[in-house]
Amino acid sequence: MPEITFAKPSVPKAGALAVLVPEDGMDAALAGLDAATEGAVSRGAAAASFKGRKGQSCVILAPAGTGLSRVVLVGLGKAADVTRHGVEEAGGTAAAALANDAAAALDARGACVPPIGTHGAVDAALGATLRSYRFDKYRTKEKAEDKPKLAKLVVMTDDAAAAKAAWPAAKAVADGVFLARDLVSEPPNVLTPAEMADRCVALKSLGLQVEVFGPKEMKKLGFGALLGVAMGSANEPRMVVMQWNGGSSGGGRTAKARKGAKTATKPLAFIGKGVTFDTGGISIKPAGGMEDMKWDMAGAGTVIGLMAALAGRKAKVDAIGLVGLVENMPSGTAQRPGDVVTTASGQTVEVLNTDAEGRLVLADVMWYCKQRFDPAFMIDLATLTGAIIVALGHEHAGLFANDDALAQTLIASGKATGETVWRMPLGDAYDKLLKSDIADMKNIGGRPGGSITAAQFIQRFVDGCPWAHLDIAGTAWHGKDKPTIPKGATAFGVRLLDTLVAEHHEPAKG
Ligand code: BES
Ligand code: MN
Ligand code: ZN
Repeated sequence: MPEITFAKPSVPKAGALAVLVPEDGMDAALAGLDAATEGAVSRGAAAASFKGRKGQSCVILAPAGTGLSRVVLVGLGKAADVTRHGVEEAGGTAAAALANDAAAALDARGACVPPIGTHGAVDAALGATLRSYRFDKYRTKEKAEDKPKLAKLVVMTDDAAAAKAAWPAAKAVADGVFLARDLVSEPPNVLTPAEMADRCVALKSLGLQVEVFGPKEMKKLGFGALLGVAMGSANEPRMVVMQWNGGSSGGGRTAKARKGAKTATKPLAFIGKGVTFDTGGISIKPAGGMEDMKWDMAGAGTVIGLMAALAGRKAKVDAIGLVGLVENMPSGTAQRPGDVVTTASGQTVEVLNTDAEGRLVLADVMWYCKQRFDPAFMIDLATLTGAIIVALGHEHAGLFANDDALAQTLIASGKATGETVWRMPLGDAYDKLLKSDIADMKNIGGRPGGSITAAQFIQRFVDGCPWAHLDIAGTAWHGKDKPTIPKGATAFGVRLLDTLVAEHHEPAKG
C-alpha cells in the first residue's frame, strides 16, 4: 500500500504526476502543466486523442521543460456526472499507470467538483490504494525491477488539511479490503479453519471482542449441520463471533443482556460462509478448476474484513460478525449423500448432495446468531451457488431478502460503491422444492432456480429476523483487472456493507 499524503497543488520537479481531468474542464486542469512545458502536455493529450472521457487515460513520457518522468492524464467524464465511485476508479487507473515510479503525485482538483468537494481527493486516494493491492508473499524469486515501485503518493488538493483529516477512516476501510483479499488469496493448505480463526483473534488489537468455538462447543450447541460438513476433514471446524460495540448504547451485547435496558439498540449482524476448501465432499467436484474452491471462504473473508474496517475507523455502531469455518472433504469419515442431520434449530435435513454444504454451515450459524443476539437484521454473504454465475455473470451479486427496505439500501449502497447487487425472488413455490421424503427438508431443490432454492433453505433458519442473503459466487474473484480491483480476490461486500453502515446506521457527521 503506497503511503498517502495530501498537499497543496503544484507542478512537481521530479517523479511522476497524474492529473484527474474533467471532460469539460480540460484546459483549466492542464493550464499549470502547459505553462511549465510550453504546451507539451496539451499537445501530447491531443496526439493521443485524450478528451477526458470517463475511463480514458493517456501517458506523456518525460515532457520537455520539467524533470517529470511521466504525466498521466485520467478522464473523469463531464463534471456534472462525476460520482464518488467514478473518482475512486480514476484514482485506481492513475495508480496502475504510476506503478513504476517510486514517488508520484496525483492532482485531484478535477475531482473536487460539487457536490463531492474536498472528498474527491480522499476518494481518489482510496481508489489508488485499492488498486495497489498485491498478494506476493509466496513469490520468492521475483526481481526487484519486476515489482511495482510506487511507495509514496502525494495527493494534491486545495483543502489538504480537510483531506488529511478524513483520510484515516478511508484508510481503515482499505485495510479491511486488503485483509479480506489476503484471506481469500491464501492457499487452502495454509488457511485452514483454525488458522482463519487465529487471524480473527489477531483483530482484538483493533478493539474487537472475538470468541472462537471449536467442535466440542459446537456439538453442545447442537450444530449438527455444520459439523456434518466438517466430518470428512482432518482440519477441525471453527465458528468465530466478533463484536464491535461502537454505538452509544453498547447494544451489541446479547438479546438477554439487553432485556429491560431501554436505551439498548439491536446490533447489526453479518454472517459469512467460510468453507476453506470445497471439494464437494463425497458428491465430489470435477478436477478441472477445483482449485478455485480455495476461495469458498470469501463470504467469511468479507465479514472479517468488514469488522476490521468498522473497528479500524471506530464506527459509531454496534455490529457483530459471525463466520462458520469448515473444510469440505471426502474421506472415510465424511458425511454421505442420504445422511440426515439435526440442525441447531431442531429442524432435520436430508443431505442429498454433500456439495450443497454452504447452506448447511449457514443454517446453524444464522440460527445461533438470531437466538443469541436478536439483531436488527442479518446479512449473510456466501459463495453459495454456481447457478448465480449463470444468472448474473460476474457483474452483480445475487440479493435475496425478506425485507424490502433492507433490500433497497443494499441496492443503493451497491450502486454507490460499484459492488452492485441484483434482487432475485423468493416464494412458497420455490420453498416447496425443498420437501424431503424422510426429514423436514432436503439440502437441494434441483437444477431450476438453484440459487433461489439455496436462499429458501437459508430463510428457514432466520426465524423471522429481517434478513438479506448475498450470493457472491460470481463476484468474489475476478479474472481481470478493474480500476480499483487488481485481478484475483475482490473483497466484494466490504465496501458495500461499510457504506451501508456509514450511511444508514451511524449518526450523521458534521
Ligand atoms: N461453493 C460452491 C458454489 C460455487 C461454485 C462457488 C462456483 C463459486 C464458484 C457450492 O458449495 C456448491 O458446490 N454449490 C453447488 C450446489 C448444488 C450441489 C445444489 C453448485 O452450485 O453446483
Ligand atoms: Mn459445494
Ligand atoms: Zn461451497
